[in-house]
Amino acid sequence: MKAVIVNEDKSLSWTEADTPSPRDNELLVKVGATAINRADLMQRRGLYPPPPGASPVMGLECAGEVVEVGSHCSRFKVGDQVCALLPGGGYAEYVTVDEGSALPIPEGLDAASAAALPEVFATAWLNIFMEAALQPGEKVLVHAGASGVGTAAIQLCKAFGSPCFVTVGAASKLEACLQLGASAGSNRHEGSFLGKAREFAGDTGIDVILDPVGGAYLADNLELLGLGGRLVLIGLMGGAVTEINLAQMMMKRARVIGSTLRARPLAEKAAVMSQLEEKVWPKIRDGEIKPIIEKIFPIEQVEEAHALVASDTTIGKVILAVSPSGSS
Ligand SMILES: NC(=O)c1ccc[n+]([C@@H]2O[C@H](COP(=O)([O-])OP(=O)(O)OC[C@H]3O[C@@H](n4cnc5c(N)ncnc54)[C@H](OP(=O)(O)O)[C@@H]3O)[C@@H](O)[C@H]2O)c1
Repeated sequence: MKAVIVNEDKSLSWTEADTPSPRDNELLVKVGATAINRADLMQRRGLYPPPPGASPVMGLECAGEVVEVGSHCSRFKVGDQVCALLPGGGYAEYVTVDEGSALPIPEGLDAASAAALPEVFATAWLNIFMEAALQPGEKVLVHAGASGVGTAAIQLCKAFGSPCFVTVGAASKLEACLQLGASAGSNRHEGSFLGKAREFAGDTGIDVILDPVGGAYLADNLELLGLGGRLVLIGLMGGAVTEINLAQMMMKRARVIGSTLRARPLAEKAAVMSQLEEKVWPKIRDGEIKPIIEKIFPIEQVEEAHALVASDTTIGKVILAVSPSGSS
């Protein structure tokens, strides 16, 4: 098969690689499309190694057709169309997938659209609804609102009855977030989000913050949290080290929760996927929630696709079409 390999000079090549064999709990999937995640840019630079046992090939999600089934798999059969969370290996013609990390492609979606779903909806669902236990009507702050994760988070907040405020890096991104269902937002290049977010939060403050920025935003995030507020930290784009006002945390009975998806045990990922299938997949089938796609590239143009993601200009996902079924 072919896969994307990182060369010594960090350039990328679509080249021959060994086809993986499924373990007893795994499916072998012929990849129609995969998608780029921010983490891939770091893995490419050698800053985010795959967890032990995972493929060294980049790619945290895929959509495609099951072509082989491990002996302990019970749900899927050869020929089924699935999309899946992966610990790695998606930038390839074939990938092995733990059966619990796979879901049927929602009716009506092609492989390219389905490849936009697993990582960002699993991340947003896990952190907002499972870790932070968001309740309907509670107020949410989503940083990097136009990112893949952000566009999923906005749609989930809207669909489950919680108003949300976003931060973004451009006016066009704010407009896109408002169209997806955000109530208000602010542009990070026009000063702190604190003032506008306070207007949105009112006297009771923000209940849940989904934050991929970290250090640079911590003080303002804590300032905005209301009593019993939860801040879920999912990334460190704004630094890992900062000071924290513990008195503020204590008096607000606030919780700061650190969370990663990729390295979690398979059973925990399966629990997230199962909730997605039950609560979110019906809303995707009905068109209430949509995959948000900036652009689809053929996988041979993976370098250009990475550069586009790194430019911070994208809204939603950048997809890599691996076979003709993933390019429509
Ligand atoms: N913990 C987990 O399990 C997990 C899982 C998935 C993703 N994540 C994290 O979630 C974040 C979003 O991932 P993604 O793949 O959806 O990203 P993405 O689509 O590539 O979007 C990232 C966006 O973040 C904004 N940004 C970049 N640098 C920033 C900075 N220094 N401060 C504030 N904003 C900045 C930019 O948008 P603007 O210019 O519009 O602000 C950029 O377009 C990443 O940090 C990723 O590592 C974590």
